[in-house]
Amino acid sequence: MQLRVLSFVYSFLLPIAYLFFPVFISEIQSLCCGLCVGDCHDTHKHQDRCVTGAIFNYTMQLMSASENSHTIVHYNLTEALMFLSHYMGDVHQPLHVGFLGDEGGNTITVRWYRRKTNLHHVWDNMIIESALKTYYNKSLPLFIQALQTNLTHGWSNDVPSWETCQLNQTACPNPYASESINLACKYAYRNATPGTTLGDDYFLSRLPIVEKRLAQGGIRLAATLNRIFSSKPKHAGS
Ligand SMILES: *[C@@H]1O[C@H](CO)[C@@H](O)[C@H](O)[C@H]1NC(C)=O
Ligand SMILES: *[C@@H]1O[C@H](CO)[C@@H](O)[C@H](O)[C@H]1NC(C)=O
Ligand SMILES: *[C@@H]1O[C@H](CO)[C@@H](O)[C@H](O)[C@H]1NC(C)=O
Ligand SMILES: *[C@@H]1O[C@H](CO)[C@@H](O)[C@H](O)[C@H]1NC(C)=O
Ligand SMILES: *[C@@H]1O[C@H](CO)[C@@H](O)[C@H](O)[C@H]1NC(C)=O
Repeated sequence: MQLRVLSFVYSFLLPIAYLFFPVFISEIQSLCCGLCVGDCHDTHKHQDRCVTGAIFNYTMQLMSASENSHTIVHYNLTEALMFLSHYMGDVHQPLHVGFLGDEGGNTITVRWYRRKTNLHHVWDNMIIESALKTYYNKSLPLFIQALQTNLTHGWSNDVPSWETCQLNQTACPNPYASESINLACKYAYRNATPGTTLGDDYFLSRLPIVEKRLAQGGIRLAATLNRIFSSKPKHAGS
């Protein structure tokens, strides 16, 4: 079974605020960037409460079921699959690995063209919505089809490296989070200080980033699921 999952684009679009556990980066903006992915905890300092911890958590749950198919399953696997898909999308959204100080851009008020919003929402929704309106006749299926076409053309040489996990791990979200924080610094936060109006310049330069992150997220979710459900059990990583 080889999956290619792009339907999680839908989960990218869901504004589920309570699912937001940014990777905490202790010394805010001065760290922009190059490190990063250090601590993993939420605003209340609960350990392992962040998007990467959640990916390991739900990978482990799905693997435990796949390995013990005739014993009792302790987890709700439907939910595990839904949450793994959701967080795999999140970890690719640069501002889900943004700074805790501004809640990943949630407290940075900006205008998206004429509409008042915040920077986090711009990256969760507005860039994709504007792309749908401008290029895809508001059709999400057409957008997904265009992503798929690029996966078999422009990005085809990159796909094998996107699929790979180092050290034979089943799930490896840490490098994805590092990529995200770098993209957050380089593209998301740049020229988007509070009160800015973001328009064509920002939209046209950031859309390719969003498109590539959606594609990488889909490929990596599929590759992770293939590893989870492949016949040879491996370790979930740490
Ligand atoms: C792990 O999954 C359980 C549900 O099975 C949930 O209660 C817990 O909060 C999850 N932990 C993380 C870090 O996602
Ligand atoms: C598992 O989770 C799904 C989705 O939340 C829910 O519909 C279902 O009832 C749950 N199953 C059990 C056995 O609790
Ligand atoms: C755009 O979508 C509408 C339906 O939402 C359809 O009626 C129209 O023909 C489409 N336009 C093009 C150019 O595909
Ligand atoms: C597909 O690739 C082309 C050429 O690089 C690019 O202009 C377009 O925005 C991409 N579309 C998607 C949905 O990735
Ligand atoms: C990865 O797996 C292959 C084959 O299962 C094994 O030969 C190799 O030593 C493993 N590498 C690591 C770093 O564990």
